[in-house]
Amino acid sequence: MPRNLILRYSNPEDWILDQFMGSGTTLVEAKLLNRNAVGVDINPQSVSISETNLQFLCGTNSKIFIRNGSATDLHFIRDNCIDFICTHPPYSNIIKYSKEIDGDISLLEVNEFLEKMVKVAVEAYRVLKKGKMCAVMMGDVRKCGNVVPLGFRTMECFLQAGFVNKEIIIKEQHNCRSTDYWKKQNNNFLLLAHEYIFVFQK
Ligand SMILES: C[S@@+](CC[C@H](N)C(=O)[O-])C[C@H]1O[C@@H](n2cnc3c(N)ncnc32)[C@H](O)[C@@H]1O
Repeated sequence: MPRNLILRYSNPEDWILDQFMGSGTTLVEAKLLNRNAVGVDINPQSVSISETNLQFLCGTNSKIFIRNGSATDLHFIRDNCIDFICTHPPYSNIIKYSKEIDGDISLLEVNEFLEKMVKVAVEAYRVLKKGKMCAVMMGDVRKCGNVVPLGFRTMECFLQAGFVNKEIIIKEQHNCRSTDYWKKQNNNFLLLAHEYIFVFQK
């Protein structure tokens, strides 16, 4: 997925940011595709996993910077210097990526999570060059049996920060709990069997 997005929305030698780096997939693809990249994650374990995953030679001269920190505060990145943002935040606390790391937004309930996403979007807007793209993958969630449209609520945070919507890409998600029943009844009903990739422009 990052590979497709990088090819579509950036050029060789561009600077790419993933401020929810995880195991570093975006950075690996950036390196393979001769882009420079900055990766940020709140979890020191992600930082060491990404460092390991990036120890390969592939004939490109990419510069890769990895940092332990929060997507809500990218003070170490200058204004207007990133060419493309390609990122995949947690979906509120559906999967918790740590037990108690301060600032880990995967530990937060929906409303607190969205408050942080407003800050994430403001920082993303600040560091991106004018006219450039920011791709954010996000899914909806269920809470107490009800659907919470976290995808669109997150999208609103980015629009509020000043971005405009260029694309809403639907990505199929496999092995979703409630999908089987409908598959047998009606193949056109997918329920929560998708994630969104919002492509915003500054
Ligand atoms: C969905 S995962 C990213 C997966 C990634 N695309 C990959 O290829 O592995 C979300 C990541 O966000 C990180 N995270 C949670 N809160 C954060 C914050 N405030 N700032 C930066 N990273 C954060 C988690 O530690 C986790 O690694």
